Amino acid sequence: MYFYGTFPEDFTWGVSSSAYQVEGGWDADGKGPSIWDNFTHVPGNIKNNDTGDIACDSYNKVEEDIYLLRALGVKNYAFSLSWSRIFPSGRNNSINSHGVDYYNRLIDGLVANNITPIVTLYHWDLPQALQDIGGWESSALIDLFDSFADFCFQTFGDRVKFWITFNEPQVIAWFGYGAGTFPPNVNDPGSAPYRVAHILLKAHARVYHTYDDKYRASQGGVIALCPNIDWVEPKTPSDPRDIEAADRYLQFLVGWFTHPIFKNGDYPDVMKWKVGNRSELQNLPSSRLPVFTAEEREYIRGTADVFCFNTYTSKIVTHATTRLRPFSYVYDQEVLTKVDSSWPSSAITDHRAVAWGLRRLLNWIKEEYGNPPIYIIENGVGIKTKSDIDDNTRIFYYKTYVDEALKAYKLDGVNLRGYNAWSFMDTFEWLNGYDPRFGLHQVDFDNPNRPRTPKRSAVYYAEIIRNNETKSDDQTTCVCFHAHLSSQRNCFSLWSAKKHSFCITK
Ligand code: NOJ
Repeated sequence: MYFYGTFPEDFTWGVSSSAYQVEGGWDADGKGPSIWDNFTHVPGNIKNNDTGDIACDSYNKVEEDIYLLRALGVKNYAFSLSWSRIFPSGRNNSINSHGVDYYNRLIDGLVANNITPIVTLYHWDLPQALQDIGGWESSALIDLFDSFADFCFQTFGDRVKFWITFNEPQVIAWFGYGAGTFPPNVNDPGSAPYRVAHILLKAHARVYHTYDDKYRASQGGVIALCPNIDWVEPKTPSDPRDIEAADRYLQFLVGWFTHPIFKNGDYPDVMKWKVGNRSELQNLPSSRLPVFTAEEREYIRGTADVFCFNTYTSKIVTHATTRLRPFSYVYDQEVLTKVDSSWPSSAITDHRAVAWGLRRLLNWIKEEYGNPPIYIIENGVGIKTKSDIDDNTRIFYYKTYVDEALKAYKLDGVNLRGYNAWSFMDTFEWLNGYDPRFGLHQVDFDNPNRPRTPKRSAVYYAEIIRNNETKSDDQTTCVCFHAHLSSQRNCFSLWSAKKHSFCITK
């Protein structure tokens, strides 16, 4: 059922992107290489051997991008900074003024157009020079990340009032250092992810305190981190073991980072318990999950002003008895995840459109963390096609997800403050190259000028923003979304039966 209504006056609507996925200019004007530059340059690593060398060429298209953002009517634009564009060697003794100029032009342009910049300091593209000293396995990165963040606060903080330290820290820890499918491709599933997460949390807290101590009074912004969350539903809701499994899944995925920050400075009990017990059974001298000192717990607790997250899908979880070897963060969870085959699939494996999961997830965050101010930083759907200008599936995705977000806000009292669509335009989609398209704007990657074309979903999203609400059917025009319905007439006759159609506001 749709629920129609209005979001609060000061609700912030936006779109999101990330540096490596849109900027291009991989070695322009003194930029240093990142781990993603080097990884994509090895043939066979990425689908079709695609790279982010040029991507959407946003490095050379500041004005054009701002023009498109204005046309959408967004209140904010969330993007990330390329660390090695600013500090080519990762350290503050190598400042690249061209990189700084680029971000200044972007930020100035946004502010001049009343678009609030939401800036992520780290969206996975670590300077290669810092990988060479151990990457996030080295605690030297805590100081180095802090010094990069400090420079960014000092340089951009007069205009940037919303900072995110890490995008999807669980992805950094697990895919980078556990499964090893993302650079730096460390394949150590049982312990590196825990060690890396430990360092990420300390680095996050350090940066938060730097902001607090040196900049908050004069700049008055907010700072958070941005976990990735899938909602999970217990397979058998009457089975307490499945309910516990669903909770455990969320604690290992999200609580790993947010429990220390939003609760008591420490990992969730269930993680300490599971990893500790299993490590003992594995005859290890101590738990694979590192331990914070009392002082560290105090330092980490409370280091986020708002709750940001990305979400795309939902899963179904059952309790499972998993093997003890090889040691693995995945086995440690003792869960089995599935999807419901009736949920609409998308270009990304296991990304299914399950809009009601968003409402439940928002309620979970509210209950678990005491109703913090919440910002959805990424939400969207990937479609596997070259041209999806008439992206009716995406419109349906946004219509239903935004509607569930509205229910959470209006009916459940969730303190939801913002919603961002992923993504602003088609981008380099990591291991999948340019195949899956997430954009509200199409980018022609075969054309050296990388022209952007608004998709139908861009028009639809602009309407949501303009009205600050989703409109009911009687205020809207309905459009076919089933390809086999060849004529508009066919569609409109079906629309009266409220089937096979979706609606855009007149
Ligand atoms: C989340 C990541 O932050 C973003 O980089 C990616 O493109 C989307 N998920 C879609 O997979």
